[in-house]
Amino acid sequence: MFDRRSFLGGAAAAGLAQPVAAQALATIPLPTADLHGRNEDAYWAALRQQFLIPADVVNLNVGTVGSSPRPVLKAIFDGFETSEQMTQAGSEDYPIWGYGSWGAYRKPFADFMGATVDQMAILRNCTEANSYVANGFDMKLGDEVLMSDEEHGSGEMPWMLRQRRYGVVVKKFAMPKPPKDAADILNRINDAITPRTRIIFVSHISTATGVVLPAKDIAALARSKGILSAFDGAHAPGMIKVDLNDIGCDIYTGSMHKWLFATKGTGFLYLRDEDVMDRVWSTVVTGGYDDPTRKADRYMQIGSSCIPTLMGLNAATGLANAIGMDRIEARNRMLADYIHDQMMKRGAQSWTSPDPALRGAIATVNVPPVQRMELQDWLWTNHKVRIRGGAPSKLRLATPYFLSKADIDRFLGLFDEFRKMKGIS
Ligand SMILES: Cc1ncc(COP(=O)(O)O)c(C=O)c1O
Repeated sequence: MFDRRSFLGGAAAAGLAQPVAAQALATIPLPTADLHGRNEDAYWAALRQQFLIPADVVNLNVGTVGSSPRPVLKAIFDGFETSEQMTQAGSEDYPIWGYGSWGAYRKPFADFMGATVDQMAILRNCTEANSYVANGFDMKLGDEVLMSDEEHGSGEMPWMLRQRRYGVVVKKFAMPKPPKDAADILNRINDAITPRTRIIFVSHISTATGVVLPAKDIAALARSKGILSAFDGAHAPGMIKVDLNDIGCDIYTGSMHKWLFATKGTGFLYLRDEDVMDRVWSTVVTGGYDDPTRKADRYMQIGSSCIPTLMGLNAATGLANAIGMDRIEARNRMLADYIHDQMMKRGAQSWTSPDPALRGAIATVNVPPVQRMELQDWLWTNHKVRIRGGAPSKLRLATPYFLSKADIDRFLGLFDEFRKMKGIS
C-alpha cells in the first residue's frame, strides 16, 4: 500500500528535492520565441526551468508518466483556490466535471488535436477511453477485433475482458521487429483481416518499441474494407503533431499526462461522427449519456470529477501551443535520433525502426547481454537517471524536448561504464 511517509523518506534517501508547493507556484517567464532563432540551446534550457525535475536528474521515461511544468501546476492550484470558494455565479453552478459539457476545456484540446469539440470527450486516462471502446462497440458473438501483438495492457485487456464475457474474438497480427517500412506493417494487417473483422484497434505509437504506425494508411485500409479503425494514441499528444480529422480514423484515444505534461487524470476519446457514436455505447454513465444531441460530450456524463484537472489540461495545451508543436516534434525527434544512433554505434539492435519516418521520440533498443532491470535500478539509484524497458535486455529511451544532448551523453557514458563494470565488451 502507498505510504506517504516512506515515499517521502525514499525521496530523501535518493537525495531528491522534497515537494514544496511554493516552489511549484513560483512563475518563471517563458523564453521569448525569438530566442530560439538566436540561441536554440538557451531556448530549450530556459524551458527546462519550467519543470520541477531537479537539475541533476535525467528523465528518459516520460513514456510512463510526464511531469507537469509550472504553468500547469499553477493552473491546477489556482483552480482549486478559486473553485473551492464555492462562489460560482449561478445557483446551479458547481465545480464538477461529469455533468456538464465543459466546452471551454474541451475546445482548446480538440483544436490542438485537429478535431472539433463535438468529436472530443475528455476522460480520465487512456485506459478508461480504451475501455469505453472495447466495452461499448456494438459487436455480435464471433465478431473479431484485430490488434497487434504489441498493445499495452490498457489497450489489450479491455478487449480480452469483452472476449471472456461476451464471446467476441481477439485476433492479433505480429508486428515486425523492427518494421522496415510502412508497407511491412500494412501488409501484415491486410493479411490478418477476415470476413468477421469489425474493428482494427492498434496503437498509434507502440508502447514497447516506439514505432509510429502509419495511422492514415491503416485508417484508409480499414475504410476500404468497411471496418472501423481505432487507435490507442496514449503517447501521441505532445510527442508528435496529430491531426485527427486528417488521419481519417473512426476512433482515437489517448493520454495527456505523458508527453503533453498535463494533469494526471486526463485522457480522451475521439469519435469521428454521429454514425460512429451510434455504434459505441457509453460505459460510465449518468443522465445525458443517451442524448445524441450532446455529441461526444455524452461520453463525459460520468459523475463528479475534478475541474482543476481540466484547468491544468488547458495550461498544458497552451504551453505546447506557445512553443509550437512543429518545434516540439522536431526537437523530440532530433533527440531520439541522436540517442538511437549513438546506441547503434554501441552495437545495439534497433527495435524501433531503421526508417526514421516510423520513429517518434521513443527509441527502443535491444542490448543483450545487458540486463535491463539491473541497469535501470543502477542508473536510478546511483545516478538519478531514469529509463525503462522490457525483459531481458530492451531499453525504452524516451526523449522529451526538455532534455539536452548533455543529458543524453550522461546516460550514454553511464551505459558504457555499466558494460565495463559487467565485463561486457
Ligand atoms: C499504448 C498505451 N496505451 C494505454 C496506456 C495507458 O495509459 P493511462 O495510464 O493514461 O491510462 C499506456 C501507458 O503507458 C500506453 O503506453
